[in-house]
Amino acid sequence: MLRACLFALRLALLAGFQRPAVPQRGGGVAALAAAPMERGAAFDWTGQRALVTGAASGIGLEVARSLVRGGAHVVALDYDAAGLEAMAAALAPECAGAGAGVSTVVADLGDAAATVAAAEAAGDVDLLVNSAGVGRMQGFMDVDVESFDLMMAVNCRAVLQISQVVARNMIARGAKGAIVHVSSQSSTQAIRQRCAYSLTKAGVDHLTKTMALELGPHGIRTNCVNPTVVLTALGKEAWKNPDKARPMKESIPLGRFAEPEEIADTILYLLSDRASMVNGLAIPIDGGFLASRAHLP
Ligand SMILES: NC(=O)c1ccc[n+]([C@@H]2O[C@H](COP(=O)([O-])OP(=O)(O)OC[C@H]3O[C@@H](n4cnc5c(N)ncnc54)[C@H](O)[C@@H]3O)[C@@H](O)[C@H]2O)c1
Repeated sequence: MLRACLFALRLALLAGFQRPAVPQRGGGVAALAAAPMERGAAFDWTGQRALVTGAASGIGLEVARSLVRGGAHVVALDYDAAGLEAMAAALAPECAGAGAGVSTVVADLGDAAATVAAAEAAGDVDLLVNSAGVGRMQGFMDVDVESFDLMMAVNCRAVLQISQVVARNMIARGAKGAIVHVSSQSSTQAIRQRCAYSLTKAGVDHLTKTMALELGPHGIRTNCVNPTVVLTALGKEAWKNPDKARPMKESIPLGRFAEPEEIADTILYLLSDRASMVNGLAIPIDGGFLASRAHLP
């Protein structure tokens, strides 16, 4: 009798160990059973409020799409008012659950005062993705002050300013949170015609480390992603010359450029509780470009 009881107890314990993890807020696995998996459906963002900059297009748009599919409310920030309107209309049918939705904030991140006001208007944010960016293709000898200042303001200063507003708000509320910046593979690798742009992205990488150091004690994690060429409006324009695109592609061991969804997926992971011990990293999403150190002409 005793032996039968012990056997039953052992079976019960084993069953307990095999039980799937309880879904967690902002990172639980909510749709493992869904097949084929819809991008963004793997995470449950119910009750989370996310601020996504550059959300009218490209990587920011894909991140926003995945977040609302998982139940988040997304505050979409961009200076492209028409683009924001179009994205809000396109994502409305994809919002999952009562709390999911999109609200929009139009602001030019090249304007320091407008940037702070826009971040404050976003309210109590749990998740922040800084994706807005601008790239002017200039070599070292061609960089002009106006282009330098614009790229520095939008790609670097605004990232710092928005993160400051969001982090202050999180700390005041005693809320934990996650922040992801969109940097670039060119932050660590010199690439022709990317002089000032690369400088701004190197700044983003460093900002990521400082934020991880200073915000970590408050339970706020900061990471950045460093994509190769992504087939967004910005990427297509920058690499439209096939004579330039071919050698770049050949320098990527996977032999192709990235899709916006492939960048969004890593960003979602970094935002989620699944990355709960990941802080201060710059993660290449480059098909092996940096690993190969191949020479570009
Ligand atoms: N596409 C690539 O090849 C690539 C590669 C590496 C890194 N990145 C980075 O990814 C991020 C997203 O770029 P993307 O490829 O999705 O490009 P995208 O052009 O599709 O999206 C950028 C968004 O930022 C917005 N934006 C630009 N300037 C702004 C300003 N002053 N104020 C407010 N919004 C502004 C644009 O309106 C647009 O919606 C950028 O930071 C970019 O530097 C892109």
